[in-house]
Formats: sequence, structure tokens, C-alpha cells
Amino acid sequence: KKIAIGIDIGGTNSAIGVVDADGNVLAKGGISTPSHGDVDRYVKDLAEAVREMLKSVMQINANFEVIGIGIGAPNGNYYSGTIEYAPNLSFKGVVHLVELLKKQFPEYAHIALTNDANAAAIGEMIYGGAKGMKNFVMYTLGTGVGSGVVVNGDLVYGHDGFAGECGHTTLIPDGRLCGCGAKGHLEAYCSAPGMKRTAFELLAKYNAIDSQLASKTFQNMESKDIYDAAVKGDKVALEVFELTGKYLGQGIADTVHHLSPEAIFLFGGPTAAGDFIFKPTIASMEAHLLPIFKNKVKVLPSKLSAGDAAIVGASALVWKELDK
Ligand code: BGC
Ligand code: NA
Repeated sequence: KKIAIGIDIGGTNSAIGVVDADGNVLAKGGISTPSHGDVDRYVKDLAEAVREMLKSVMQINANFEVIGIGIGAPNGNYYSGTIEYAPNLSFKGVVHLVELLKKQFPEYAHIALTNDANAAAIGEMIYGGAKGMKNFVMYTLGTGVGSGVVVNGDLVYGHDGFAGECGHTTLIPDGRLCGCGAKGHLEAYCSAPGMKRTAFELLAKYNAIDSQLASKTFQNMESKDIYDAAVKGDKVALEVFELTGKYLGQGIADTVHHLSPEAIFLFGGPTAAGDFIFKPTIASMEAHLLPIFKNKVKVLPSKLSAGDAAIVGASALVWKELDK
């Protein structure tokens, strides 16, 4: 039975999974994504974790045949197998991750890397809610905001391989500083840290000492805390979702104008807030759309299970390679 390894590199965690061709996760684990920026050490740790995991999987069934490794990474480039100038990772400049992993695993014919949101889009297309859809966009909300663009049934890579950086579209001229160094990007408002920034701005604006969020520090506040507070009717938390949705819907409307998708999928921690985030997002998108697009484009939660989507999507890259 053929199996693939999927790796999702996130701002804090690198999730690793062993996945079969039907998208079933046979084993999963991970290591923390380093803050030290030492690429060689990271690759060694990653390779060791992969080997350990494979060992345990082979004990269950020695007939598994490993086809390769698929990686989803922020600022990942499929063409060159590199991660380049990632604002939310500690690595500097250009990281030749595929080349480095090929040295660790010369026995695998297929080692491929793509942008993390692209991987999520591939997962959604093969196993999730986008099955059968030819035109859709996946928005991922986490430490950063990413997107994977599918047009006419294919993932769009563009000239240089970086197509679909929707998190870095400008919402507010001269707005908040984004991790990438530019100002006013969607990511600075709609990522998990962006939502926290909104929360702290509102706490200060209203001097809201009675808010459930008032006791939190920036370090120990999570998007889940904002959700929990919103459920209890906390005004600051509710306004955080209103504003986040307003910004996100504005960005999504631009995406719709550019691409005319059938649906937009939302994925990531903050989307667990359900209507709190979806309602204002959809309202804002509709308000910004040309009449020809109004009430046509679905905004849907990802159907992939939250814990597995990223590794399943990354592993799917391997099956895609096989099909070529
Ligand atoms: C990066 C994207 C990435 C997204 C989510 C953004 O800051 O530019 O490449 O997909 O974060 O990780
Ligand atoms: Na992308």
C-alpha cells in the first residue's frame, strides 16, 4: 500500500503526518518550528522525526511503500522547492528545503514543496468541500493569512511561483505594519495576531476594564479566548469579529473581482468561531461586490478536519506529482 508523508510548516509548529492515497492519516506528530533560524539543524530534526514516525507505521504494516514527501510552507515556491523571505518564520533569505530534504531522503523520487495555503487548497480539492469545483480560492487564517487559488481546475502558480499571496493585499493605505514590512496588509488585520491587535486597540479605545479580555496579555491571548468572550456577549470580542469580518470580506471581494470563483473556503483557527466570523465577512464581501457577482459566491468553512487538513493537503502534493 502506497503512503506519503505530509509536512505542514507553521509559524510555531511543523506538523508531520503519514497519509494514504485516500487522505487517511495513519500517524501524525511534529516538531516545533525553530525560532533560531538554523536551517541545517531544523532539517536534521525534521528528518529524524519523519524516520521515527515511519518506523512506528512500518511496525503496523511492513508492506507500506513510501512514495515521497509533500511540504506546505509559508512563502513556499513550488517551482524551486524553496521558502523565500518568510515574514513569519525565523529563516532568513532563501531556504532550499527540497534540496536539503533530498539529501536526507535520496531514496524518495518525489519530494515537493508548495505554499502552505496552496497545500490546503489541494487538500480541499481532492478530499474536501471543493471536490468537483473548477474555480475556488482557499483563504487560510493563522499566524499569517495565505491563499491558494484554483482556476479552471488548476492551482495557479504564476510566473515566479508565488501566485496567491492574498494576505498581502493592501486594505488600508498607511495602515498597520505587516510582518513583511509593508503597511495596511490584510494579514495585519485578519491573522490571529492581527485579531489580537484589534482586541487591544478596542480595549484601549473603550478603556474596557470590564471586558473578559482585559486581563489578558498579548502573549497569552489566543483567538479561542476572543471566541469564548464573544459567546458570552463580550462587547469588545464581538466588535473584534465584526471588524475582522469587515476587513476580510473587503479582501475577499477583490479576489472575487479578479477571479470569479464559485466559492471561497476559509480555514484556520479563527474560522472555528463560525457565524461570528462568517456573517460579517459575507456581509462585507457582498457590500463590496459588483452587482454581477452579488449573492453568487459561496463563502464556506473548509471541510477538512482542522487538525489534519494541512498535512493531508501537503501529502496530496505527492499524489499530484505521481499523476504527472
Ligand atoms: C505568507 C504566505 C502564507 C501565509 C500563511 C503569509 O504571510 O506570505 O506565503 O501562505 O502567511 O502562512
Ligand atoms: Na498561495
